Amino acid sequence: MTPTKRALITGITGQDGSYLAEFLLAQGYEVIGMIRRSSTVNFERIQHIQDKITLTTGDLLDEVSMINLLRESRPSEVYNLAAQSFVQTSWGQPVFTGETTALGVTRMLDAVRIVDPDIRFYQASSSEMFGKVVEVPQRETTPFYPRSPYGVAKVYGHWITVNYRESYDMHTSSGILFNHESPRRGLEFVTRKITNGVARIKLGLDRELRLGNLEAQRDWGFAGDYVKAMWMMLQQDRPDDYVVATGKTQSVRHFCELAFGHVGLDYSKYVVLDERFMRPAEVDLLVGDPTKARAMLGWYPETPFEQLVTMMVDADLALLKKQL
Ligand code: NAP
Ligand code: GDD
Repeated sequence: MTPTKRALITGITGQDGSYLAEFLLAQGYEVIGMIRRSSTVNFERIQHIQDKITLTTGDLLDEVSMINLLRESRPSEVYNLAAQSFVQTSWGQPVFTGETTALGVTRMLDAVRIVDPDIRFYQASSSEMFGKVVEVPQRETTPFYPRSPYGVAKVYGHWITVNYRESYDMHTSSGILFNHESPRRGLEFVTRKITNGVARIKLGLDRELRLGNLEAQRDWGFAGDYVKAMWMMLQQDRPDDYVVATGKTQSVRHFCELAFGHVGLDYSKYVVLDERFMRPAEVDLLVGDPTKARAMLGWYPETPFEQLVTMMVDADLALLKKQL
């Protein structure tokens, strides 16, 4: 009988962590989730699988906590998804973002190196690293030009992952994931903000939706599809870096059109531009080239953009109706 594989996920309470935990459980893994201490419980995204996973406390800001956690849980794979992940917040909290999203990766990598350097490691890198893009579409070889403290922190996290691979011969891979969304997306990110806003307006709870730059373009996919690519990377004999994207880009304006249109509303009557949501430096256009992921991992996105938008609007409508 093959022994059960054990995986540790940091950021298990987040959007991706919850989908990855579900996916790994379905593959027969024992799943351990690292959670940070909090005065209130925030397990909404994982409460449906809570009896199937083990939750242990640790924090990206505290290396000893991660060393102890690894010693106790002895995973064969670590997925480092935890981060201060909201770009806008990174201008207000640049040092904290660096401590978590950049140095946090070194702490986790070092904990792995100390406890068991044979553990396979996945780092949640980001298309934000491409920022003011120097090539369209963006691929693994495209130079980085980050545009926010978050993007800068992710570039550090990416390179330290590459460096531990080259310095210590560790199996560390970096997934350069483009934006991926779902009904579990945090409410501050633009897609969920829009779908939640649409549902609230449709149900008569709000009259307008205040947004920033409607012309920004993103390569949006479904989070449930993207976590599979993370796992596929760690099943390869050799660690490597991969762009994970759909290869198509859409504007925030078009997202609004589709989301409002899905419930029979015209977005231009409800969306109000608000300077507060403009960024000091914007990432205007992201579109990834997932050729390598398809060729080497056999990964491809399964959920079309229109389906993603309607899935999110329907989920927000259902959620709000339950609360009414
Ligand atoms: P998310 O929903 O914001 O989740 C972030 C997770 O990190 C939460 O579980 C959070 O815990 C945890 N966390 C934050 N600071 C921590 C700390 N100091 N110690 C331990 N845990 C901490 O993010 P996501 O959308 O799932 O994204 C997952 C990862 O992929 C992130 O690293 C993100 O930067 C990266 N990424 C995301 C996308 C995307 O489009 N979603 C694209 C590229 C890369 P709490 O619940 O306690 O706050
Ligand atoms: N959040 C937000 N709120 N964004 C807005 C708004 C608004 O009211 N109005 C316009 N936007 C624009 C932003 O200026 C940005 O260009 C775009 O919508 C997407 O913003 P977010 O949804 O906040 O995501 P992001 O692209 O900045 O970052 C996400 O994707 C990255 C991968 O490229 C996050 O998930 C990051 O963690 C991830 O690395």
